[in-house]
Amino acid sequence: MQGKTSKASRPTTIPAATGRLGVLTPGLGAVATTFMAGVESVRLGRSKPIGSLTQMATIRLGKRTEKRAPLIKELVPLAALDDLVFGAWDPIPDDAYTAARKAGVLEDRDLEPIAEFLKNIKPMPAVFENRYVTRIDGKNVKKGKTKRDLAEQLRQDMRDFKKKNKCERLVIVWCASTEIFIKAGKQHATVAAFEKAMEDNDEAISPSMLYAWAAIMEGVPYCNGAPNLAVDTPALQQLAQEKGVPISGKDFKTGQTWMKTIIAPGLKARMLGLEGWYSTNILGNRDGEVLDDPASFKTKEESKLSVLHTILQPEIYPDLYEGFSHVVRINYYPPRGDNKEGWDNIDIIGWMGYPMQIKVNFLCRDSILAAPIVLDLALFSDFAHRAGLKGIQEWLSFYYKSPMAAAGLQPEHDLFIQQTKLKNTLRHLMGEEQITHLGLEYYQS
Ligand SMILES: NC(=O)c1ccc[n+]([C@@H]2O[C@H](COP(=O)([O-])OP(=O)(O)OC[C@H]3O[C@@H](n4cnc5c(N)ncnc54)[C@H](O)[C@@H]3O)[C@@H](O)[C@H]2O)c1
Repeated sequence: MQGKTSKASRPTTIPAATGRLGVLTPGLGAVATTFMAGVESVRLGRSKPIGSLTQMATIRLGKRTEKRAPLIKELVPLAALDDLVFGAWDPIPDDAYTAARKAGVLEDRDLEPIAEFLKNIKPMPAVFENRYVTRIDGKNVKKGKTKRDLAEQLRQDMRDFKKKNKCERLVIVWCASTEIFIKAGKQHATVAAFEKAMEDNDEAISPSMLYAWAAIMEGVPYCNGAPNLAVDTPALQQLAQEKGVPISGKDFKTGQTWMKTIIAPGLKARMLGLEGWYSTNILGNRDGEVLDDPASFKTKEESKLSVLHTILQPEIYPDLYEGFSHVVRINYYPPRGDNKEGWDNIDIIGWMGYPMQIKVNFLCRDSILAAPIVLDLALFSDFAHRAGLKGIQEWLSFYYKSPMAAAGLQPEHDLFIQQTKLKNTLRHLMGEEQITHLGLEYYQS
């Protein structure tokens, strides 16, 4: 019989999710507006929160014979959808209704009934610099002498939003464009170096890092939905620890990479080899346009490429995976809008070295897959904060293409291990026993 999780190792009482939770998104584009519109639509009973674990998933508790499987939201004190209030920053001044129409994800039948709600969400002026996102040119931008000034303005925005909307707590999910590729340097090594670099207007400090710093300073959990370097620097991780703030990232795991993290563990589980994996995509939304810039694409490419190596571990299984070829392409193709099409050609190897192929043609809707991820990250990060968790939230790896992990640890990419980790973390925090799937006790008389 498995023992209950030791109560000493978890917070004794987790405060309830009382009052309103402000969800702020840097970026009011396709993903952010689809997320906000979807929550409002669910609140009005017009749709179901499909794709969201916090709203729809159950969690098994105890032995199978106990038949206890409540909804996650019945076990865990999460903020209710009715208590969510939305805000955003964007260099483009469009309100959420106009932005959603331009994004072209949702149809009139879904947008019109909530038009007033969306029109009331107007973006605050952004911290934005063209050199980090070259394909966007917006005028709704903050001015300041130093990057530190700009970050202080973001902190003020958070306080003002909280007060104006009578929120008890805030959470931030980065839904803005992918910035150019930056490697962590000495400016990101310590909090002191980071703050000095902000004051010196150092190029190594990007706008997304300023949002992350400002959030942590305000005690606001921060999730990074894009692949660019931001909260995954030693400086900001240290700051998050010091301030007791949960952080997570990076890059929402939605279409093709989500598929990879399902198929690759399957190949490895059966000890089938891989010779090559070619992935190509066409998409025509603004994200696709931004990713058409090679510097932004490089950031995305790095994030997408890391997945297979970590799952397949060629260093442990050289006969199966050594030197496999992995190519990822994204092509901007305007007629497609947000309806991305991805093709994967997977060359696998079986018994006696015989080759086989798997083809995947995924006609997905990027923002439809990303929106419930934004919701879950917001609710779980707020819960994590109340539960006293701080720093990197590895249990939220489930949602990310390029999950953050402690220094020296391999990130976990396998979707099913990630899911087990997520659910076991919830069980642990709520004082329920871990599920090991051993199950021998059912067969012992
Ligand atoms: N949709 C998906 O499946 C998916 C998956 C993984 C990651 N992402 C990432 O999520 C992000 C959002 O995707 P999207 O499709 O909504 O893109 P989008 O282009 O529709 O929206 C991004 C918005 O961010 C704004 N922006 C740019 N820089 C900003 C800044 N410094 N501050 C505030 N706003 C800023 C842009 O003006 C734009 O309105 C992208 O980085 C994308 O790579 C999306």
